[in-house]
Amino acid sequence: MVHYFTDNWEKIQNFKARPDDILIATYPKAGTTWVSYILDLLYFSKTQPDRQTSTSLNDRVPFLEITSLNQSSGTDLADSLDTSPRLIKTHLPAQLIPKSFWEQECRVVYVARNAKDNAVSYFHFDRMNYGHPEPGDWNSYLQRFIDGKMVFGSWYDHVTGWWEKKHSHPKIHYMFFEDMVEDTGREINKLCSFLGLTSTTKEKEQIRHLSQFDNMKKDDMANYSTVEVMDFKISPFMRKGKVGDWKNHFTVAQNEKFDEDYEKKMKNTTLQFRTVL
Ligand code: A3P
Repeated sequence: MVHYFTDNWEKIQNFKARPDDILIATYPKAGTTWVSYILDLLYFSKTQPDRQTSTSLNDRVPFLEITSLNQSSGTDLADSLDTSPRLIKTHLPAQLIPKSFWEQECRVVYVARNAKDNAVSYFHFDRMNYGHPEPGDWNSYLQRFIDGKMVFGSWYDHVTGWWEKKHSHPKIHYMFFEDMVEDTGREINKLCSFLGLTSTTKEKEQIRHLSQFDNMKKDDMANYSTVEVMDFKISPFMRKGKVGDWKNHFTVAQNEKFDEDYEKKMKNTTLQFRTVL
């Protein structure tokens, strides 16, 4: 059973970040696993070549606020890692990140995904993940998403909160799932520039290849097939990996209502998604 952050809140808030930690922050279903996979390969495929085949991605990249996807809590697992850097993932909104990450001036990679695809992906994830509340029918789920009544809060607040944080914290690289789909190699290059990595063209091309949807889907160390709370017969973790799947889910009426509300909620931010409305 997965226990969420309420069980572990004090420990999370007192978590001691190290200056070279890299925090991967996302709203759930925005591409966390994909970017974690790429960063893990960028940092460790040369120095620890067995790591990718011997250790699940969940253990390589601890989940800060989850108490047990494996045996230990995300914070305990992170504490036990002696790699430099440590890659740590979180779905917390910017204002709830443990303060040591800011004090240590850690680098943060934030991934955002357009709201409609994000909602669809989350719906299917909640259907197959028994550790999550029952999603109910799509229409009521979409309404909850619009109302921000989700485990990690409002998508709108999350993506805009991190966008604003970027202005006061220069070490945030804000990237988009849609850009990753459009040109993964270009986004890997941007990650390397942000992180000061000097991987060769050949290494980056190999990482791009390994991180393609079909390859990651086959990788049992990354596709969550070892996680007991997920029922892949209902929906696989690596489901479609596409931009625009929302068109197969939203009715015309749902879409109109969503767009109207979206305009209102997003009118005061400079954050723009290329592909949504
Ligand atoms: P879909 O449900 O739309 O397929 P997270 O890791 O944040 O939980 O996000 C999961 C989403 O990212 C899923 O979206 C999953 O298929 C997609 N994804 C994961 N790896 C991917 C890859 N290599 N290429 C494209 N999409 C990927």
